[in-house]
Amino acid sequence: NKISIIGVPSDYGQHRRGVDMGPSAIRYADVVERLEGLGYEVLDEGDILLKHDKVKKPQNTQLKNLDEVIEVSTQLSDKVQDVMAKGRFPLILGGDHSIAIGTLTGLGTKYKNLGVIWYDAHADLNTPETSPSGNIHGMPLAISCGLGDERLVNIGGYGPKVKPENIIIIGARSVDPGERELIKKHGIKVYSMHEIDRMGMTKVIEESIEYFKMRQIDGVHLSLDLDGIDPLYTPGVGTPVPGGITYRESHLAMEMLEEAGFITSAEFVEVNPILDERNKTAEVAVALMGSLLGEKLV
Ligand code: ARG
Ligand code: MN
Ligand code: MN
Ligand code: MN
Repeated sequence: NKISIIGVPSDYGQHRRGVDMGPSAIRYADVVERLEGLGYEVLDEGDILLKHDKVKKPQNTQLKNLDEVIEVSTQLSDKVQDVMAKGRFPLILGGDHSIAIGTLTGLGTKYKNLGVIWYDAHADLNTPETSPSGNIHGMPLAISCGLGDERLVNIGGYGPKVKPENIIIIGARSVDPGERELIKKHGIKVYSMHEIDRMGMTKVIEESIEYFKMRQIDGVHLSLDLDGIDPLYTPGVGTPVPGGITYRESHLAMEMLEEAGFITSAEFVEVNPILDERNKTAEVAVALMGSLLGEKLV
């Protein structure tokens, strides 16, 4: 019943500035107070410190800001391990989605059969070869499965961090051709918007819970990209895609995951207050954290 909050003010995984202010925006939306109100002992561990050189330098166009992403990931992995060693629940605030590389590196040192819920409009399964943008925030899931640039794959001195069969993507509606191939090839489970519309969120989460039980996972990480939710509710994201998961469906999903009792860590990413409307997106993030961690009316 102890939560540690880790801020990761990184915008290196994509090209729109402002997402590095995500952790501040989420704190401003009263994340600590909200979780304390649920009875947790909450420790805000502060932010990962990034050296912020704004000097323009030659770029590898298929792996933009590679050195910076490696540095952030290494630091974050260490921090996640510290938090787990203290017996606390790691709650990571992004930052763009490339930070998941560091989170999963840290978690993988403890959980050898980790389940991952990737709540996102995107699959984030690109490699440098398939990426349409060269932005590393479109690659973290592939990297964590051991696919892509080896400097990223082997961060923390080991890899892969997760098994493709232990991943469930929820909310996908913008998937690139190379990602689609990887999904098929590696048997990654995907509930796209089609399945969510058709089956309803209740069934999607029930099946997901069953699936993880069958896979005998030893922990479950929720990686929630705010662009998984419809931009009507969460406009403050860098790569919005219309036709997303609703606010209600998202609360339902969080509540059902909480009831299942197996979430061992979570991260909320891609909150960009510069693109937002009066901090709406950070407020949705905090409300969903509430549901994920047990908030209920009765
Ligand atoms: N698939 C696109 C790309 O690789 C978009 C990725 C968006 N990822 C995200 N975490 N928002 O560039
Ligand atoms: Mn920055
Ligand atoms: Mn996304
Ligand atoms: Mn993402």
